[in-house]
Amino acid sequence: MSDVYDKIMDLAKRRGFIWPTSECYGSVAGFIDYGPLGSMMKRRIENIWRQFYIIQEGYYEIECPTIGQEDIFIASGHVKGFSDKMCQCPACREYLRADHVAEGHNISGASTMSSEDLTRVICTLPCPACGEALGAVEVFNFNLMFETTIGPGSQRKGYLRPETAQGMVTDFARLLRFYRDKLPFGAVQIGKSYRNEISPRQGMIRLREFTQAEAEIFVHPEKKDHPCFERYAAYEMPLFGIDQQVQGGDPVVVTMETAVSQGLVANQYVAYYLALTHQILVTIGVDPEKLRFRQHLPDERAHYAVDCWDAEILSARFGWVETVGIADRTDYDLLAHQRQSGERFVVFLPYETPRKERQVRVSPNMGALGPRFRGKAKAVADALCRHVPGPEGVTIDLDGEEVFISPDLYGVKEMVVEIPGEEITPHVIEPSYGIDRMIYAVLEHSYDEEIVEDEERRVLRLSPAVAPVQVAVFPLLARDGLCEIAVSVSDAIKNEGLLVEYDDSGAIGRRYRRQDEIGTPFAVTVDYDTKEDSTVTLRDRDSMGQVRIPIRELPATVRSLVEGKVVFSDL
Ligand code: ATP
Ligand code: GLY
Repeated sequence: MSDVYDKIMDLAKRRGFIWPTSECYGSVAGFIDYGPLGSMMKRRIENIWRQFYIIQEGYYEIECPTIGQEDIFIASGHVKGFSDKMCQCPACREYLRADHVAEGHNISGASTMSSEDLTRVICTLPCPACGEALGAVEVFNFNLMFETTIGPGSQRKGYLRPETAQGMVTDFARLLRFYRDKLPFGAVQIGKSYRNEISPRQGMIRLREFTQAEAEIFVHPEKKDHPCFERYAAYEMPLFGIDQQVQGGDPVVVTMETAVSQGLVANQYVAYYLALTHQILVTIGVDPEKLRFRQHLPDERAHYAVDCWDAEILSARFGWVETVGIADRTDYDLLAHQRQSGERFVVFLPYETPRKERQVRVSPNMGALGPRFRGKAKAVADALCRHVPGPEGVTIDLDGEEVFISPDLYGVKEMVVEIPGEEITPHVIEPSYGIDRMIYAVLEHSYDEEIVEDEERRVLRLSPAVAPVQVAVFPLLARDGLCEIAVSVSDAIKNEGLLVEYDDSGAIGRRYRRQDEIGTPFAVTVDYDTKEDSTVTLRDRDSMGQVRIPIRELPATVRSLVEGKVVFSDL
C-alpha cells in the first residue's frame, strides 16, 4: 500500500474527516478544516490525552490567548531564534526549506548546518519544484512566527503563539499559588499554535495552524525521581538513544527502570513521560510496531536541556515523523521570563526545622558619621555594611579616595538568626504533543483493505475509543415498521451517551461498508425476527462476526464494548 497516503486523504476528504480549508477561494497550503467526523475524532483523542494528564496525573488545564505580546517571545527566545533555513530557487522563485532539500538527497546533519554550509551543500542539487540546478542559491534564516499588532495603529507588537507552552510558564506564579506553593506541580494546555512554515507540502504533518497539547511539570531541580515512578518502572518500549544512533544500531527495547539505571534516560521524570506518551499513543491506535523514541543528538539538543526525546511514528509516505517531544528544559524558561519581566519566578521551600545561622550585623553610627561626612554619610554607611569591618577599623573607597573609618563610627554584632527555608527556581519537564500528527498516524495505521465476497472492503480499524461514530443502526428494509423499531433502538443507545448513526438507505451490505470505511466499530440491524422476539443483530466491524442480542440488553452492552470493558468475542 505505498499510495496509502493518497487513499487515506481521499477517504478523509470524501467522508468528512479532513478538508482543504476555504476551498471555494482556493485553499492555502498549511491550513486544513476538520470536517464532522474529523472534529469528533479529534475531540476524542484530545479527551484521551486529558484522561491521562488531568485525571491520572492531576495537572489542571488552563487556556491562554493565542496572541501574545512581544515580551513573551523575546524572553522565550522565539523572536531571536525561532527560524528555519530558507532559500529561493533562482529559476522558478519557489521558496524552499534548505535543510529539507538537503535531507531529500540523504545528506545527514542538514538540520544543524549553518546557512553558509547549507548553501554550499545544496547549490549542486536540483530544485525539488522545477528540477533546475539550485546554482546561485542563498540560504538565510526565516522567522516562523506570524507577527501582528495589538490594538489600532501599530503601537504594540504581538505574535500568534508558536507553541502553547509559554502560557504555563508566564502563569507560573499564579499556578504555584493554586497548587498551594508546593512542588512538584504541573499544568497543561490544548490549543492552536501557529508557525509560518516555509513550504508545507506534507498535509497534516506540517501545518501553519495546528493543535498542540503540552504539559509543563515544575519539579525540584535536585529531586527528579517521579513520586509515582512505580507505575511505569516495568514498562517496556523501544528507545533509540544517542549511542545506538551514532553506532548505526537499532532502538533497544528496555524497561524504564533499566533505562534510568543505565543512564540511557537522564532521570525518572523524563522516563515516566516517555512511557506515558507511549501508552497514550498506543491507546489512541498508533501501531506499536511503528513507534520509537529517539533521543536528540548533542548537536540538536537545546544547550540548556538535560535530555530530549522525540516520539517518532513511522508513516508509509513520510518515514519517521516526530510527533511528540519530551524534554527536561531545566530552569531556562523561568529564568528567561524572570529576566524579561522583573518578576521573581521562584518557590519558597520551608525547611523541616528552620536552620540556625550565625550572622554578623554592622550598625553604622549615623550620629557620628553625619557631622563628619555630611552628604556622603549614607555612602559610608553602605560601604561599611558591605565590608563587615573588624574591631580595629577599616579603609573604604569613597568616590575613588581611600578613607579610614575608625571603630567608634560603627558597631558590629554577631547574632544567631533562624533561616526558615530557601528559594529555588524549579526545573521544567515538558512533553509536547502534536495532535494533528497523532490523528494522521492513527488514520494511516488503522487503514486496511481486504477482499470480502469478491469485493474490496476498505476499513478504518479505529479503536472504539476514538472512532467518531460509535454505533450504526439499520433497519433491514425501510418498510413493515422496521424503521420505527430501529429509530427507538437508536434513541435507547443515544441515551447511553453514544454517537449513533441511523441509516435506512440502500442495500444492507452497502450500509455496512459505509460504516466500515469511517471506522464505526459496531452496527445493529433490526430485522423481521426483531418483531417476533425483540432481539437485534450486533455486528463487529473487525471480525464481521454477528451475535443476536435482546434489545433491552443492547444499550448497556454497546456502551461496555465502546468503553473497552467487554470485548466482542466474549458476547
Ligand atoms: P519539526 O522538526 O517537524 O518541524 P519541531 O521540532 O519544530 O517539529 P516542536 O517544536 O518540538 O516540533 O513541536 C512539538 C510538536 O508539535 C511536534 O512534535 C509536532 O507534533 C507538533 N508540530 C510542530 N510543528 C508542527 C507543524 N508545522 N504542523 C503540525 N504539527 C506540528
Ligand atoms: N513547546 C515545545 C515546542 O513546541 O517547541
